[in-house]
Amino acid sequence: MAHLRKSDILLLLLLSLHIIIAQENESSIIQPASSLYAGKHPSSWPSSSGYFRFGFYPQGNGYSVGIWLVGRSENTTVWTANRDDPPVSSNATLEFTTQGRLLLRTEDGMEKIIANLTMSVSVDAASMSDTGNFMLYQNRTVVWESFNFPTDTILGGQNLSGSHNMLISSVSRSNHSSGPYLLRMQDDGNLVAYANNPAELDPSDAYWATMTNGWYFSVLNLNERGVLAMYSSPKFHQEKVLANLSATGNETMIIYRATLDPDGNFRLYSHQLERNTISHKWQILNDECDAKGQCGLNSYCSSRGKDTECYCYPGFTFIDENTKSLGCSQNFTIDGCVARKDLVIHYNITTLDNMSWAGDPYSVKPNLEKEDCKKACQEDCSCGGVLYSDTKSCRMYRLPLKYGKRHGNITTTAFIKFILGSTISPPPETSQILISEGNQSLVLTMGETKASF
Ligand SMILES: *[C@@H]1O[C@H](CO)[C@@H](O)[C@H](O)[C@H]1NC(C)=O
Ligand SMILES: *[C@@H]1O[C@H](CO)[C@@H](O)[C@H](O)[C@H]1NC(C)=O
Ligand SMILES: *[C@@H]1O[C@H](CO)[C@@H](O)[C@H](O)[C@H]1NC(C)=O
Ligand SMILES: *[C@@H]1O[C@H](CO)[C@@H](O)[C@H](O)[C@H]1NC(C)=O
Ligand SMILES: *[C@@H]1O[C@H](CO)[C@@H](O)[C@H](O)[C@H]1NC(C)=O
Ligand SMILES: *[C@@H]1O[C@H](CO)[C@@H](O)[C@H](O)[C@H]1NC(C)=O
Ligand SMILES: *[C@@H]1O[C@H](CO)[C@@H](O)[C@H](O)[C@H]1NC(C)=O
Ligand SMILES: *[C@@H]1O[C@H](CO)[C@@H](O)[C@H](O)[C@H]1NC(C)=O
Ligand SMILES: *[C@@H]1O[C@H](CO)[C@@H](O)[C@H](O)[C@H]1NC(C)=O
Ligand SMILES: *[C@@H]1O[C@H](CO)[C@@H](O)[C@H](O)[C@H]1NC(C)=O
Ligand SMILES: *[C@@H]1O[C@H](CO)[C@@H](O)[C@H](O)[C@H]1NC(C)=O
Ligand SMILES: *[C@@H]1O[C@H](CO)[C@@H](O)[C@H](O)[C@H]1NC(C)=O
Repeated sequence: MAHLRKSDILLLLLLSLHIIIAQENESSIIQPASSLYAGKHPSSWPSSSGYFRFGFYPQGNGYSVGIWLVGRSENTTVWTANRDDPPVSSNATLEFTTQGRLLLRTEDGMEKIIANLTMSVSVDAASMSDTGNFMLYQNRTVVWESFNFPTDTILGGQNLSGSHNMLISSVSRSNHSSGPYLLRMQDDGNLVAYANNPAELDPSDAYWATMTNGWYFSVLNLNERGVLAMYSSPKFHQEKVLANLSATGNETMIIYRATLDPDGNFRLYSHQLERNTISHKWQILNDECDAKGQCGLNSYCSSRGKDTECYCYPGFTFIDENTKSLGCSQNFTIDGCVARKDLVIHYNITTLDNMSWAGDPYSVKPNLEKEDCKKACQEDCSCGGVLYSDTKSCRMYRLPLKYGKRHGNITTTAFIKFILGSTISPPPETSQILISEGNQSLVLTMGETKASF
């Protein structure tokens, strides 16, 4: 048996250590002319730690291309390529071509480039990093990285800024197509969450903001120690820490992830890799109903603990009972207010305390008593609902009512007017509108501002 000297042992140890490191790096470097297969092995490339993977993952009845964090019972998708494309079948392939392009080939022969690079860039390697960033290299320089094209998530070491400044929520935890919420690091320095209105972003669709106006061209950064913070442009050296989890746990074995979740809440999660647990430690909303658009038009959101529920305003019914988020409608619609002078419209009006909704009132009447505010809506054909506040202001809204919310903390009272029906009256000189509440009814005579009970 050979007798080893201390220095030999040290050398051996160093050598084996070096080999391990080299192997680790080797396994995460992907050479051109490599392929992945949706339905067979290999379907993904691992990072050197094995915790992150890039490749095909199951989506619907097929597969999507993306990056996920491997967990024992559940994987967490952190990025999806072309997220709004339909899933591909098990016969699809992903080729890292000899020219260094990531080419997705679907069964019907369609080809799609995943990383958009100019022709002059010649990629010679790719790698899935242990931070969850998939990178393409030209001569050891990163020329493309998934961190620059976030979908709904940022990971430790990733920024939201400049031309890659927003996150769009996923449809659901299992469907990673673009969902209804958006978080944007704006050039004006505000980090703002919006109901993702496809037409255009309107301030009235916003439901959360950092109110850091003037922090022009800031960066939202999540670092690898779990600090989620905004940094103003270098000229001003301002820092706003949104969350700091760095005091907790074993930093080397924790992956931090901030996701704009399908419910519109932006949450910071930590994944303890060894213990294989996920916990969420910070979020922007305490009341889930604050995410605008949980409930559709003419409905309102009310939460009890973690559960939110949509309710129709009195006199309205769900457009689709199974998809309450689509909102509610009335049985009756009457075009315009004065178009049909022969119609007698019967209204009722209900009171809902602790209500609010969004949008601009078409009329604001200051200093009214509650009953007068209610009456003002009853008497105005345009009025669909009013919000009456402590300050005696009476704000009148047309239908549809948008982003309704009911919560014990809200001090405004709403009156909702709805149509019970209409009758054709014999054509008098003036038309009448009958408003009834309980046994009382009010006949309005158009043309004269006279009302009689
Ligand atoms: C291997 O990876 C480690 C950490 O990821 C890095 O520090 C090191 O420089 C890499 N070695 C080589 C040879 O690329
Ligand atoms: C994901 O949701 C989108 C939008 O609702 C839908 O069009 C698409 O079919 C869904 N995809 C899957 C795989 O279910
Ligand atoms: C998670 O990802 C790994 C690696 O791709 C895969 O083997 C495993 O089946 C996935 N787990 C789940 C629950 O999808
Ligand atoms: C994949 O291709 C094979 C051979 O062409 C075919 O038999 C099979 O039906 C295809 N699978 C799917 C899911 O389309
Ligand atoms: C690729 O990038 C070019 C220029 O940056 C842009 O004009 C083009 O629309 C992009 N293509 C895709 C598919 O994103
Ligand atoms: C790669 O980069 C190195 C150093 O940056 C340079 O010396 C070399 O010429 C480059 N090679 C190619 C093929 O561009
Ligand atoms: C992210 O932002 C931080 C803070 O401004 C900056 O120090 C860092 O270099 C940025 N990282 C990347 C990858 O751009
Ligand atoms: C985060 O918290 C740790 C521990 O309390 C502290 O050392 C560190 O300075 C904090 N970081 C920031 C950016 O506030
Ligand atoms: C860090 O990890 C080690 C080994 O897994 C464990 O013994 C220790 O309690 C951990 N420390 C903290 C603060 O979680
Ligand atoms: C409601 O008010 C209570 C007491 O003022 C407060 O603790 C709570 O956070 C508020 N809830 C919401 C959802 O605003
Ligand atoms: C709407 O119409 C249906 C069928 O005509 C009726 O059953 C229902 O009660 C009506 N709902 C309201 C709120 O008037
Ligand atoms: C009108 O509203 C009142 C109060 O909400 C309600 O008691 C009454 O039943 C309603 N009348 C009709 C006909 O719906």
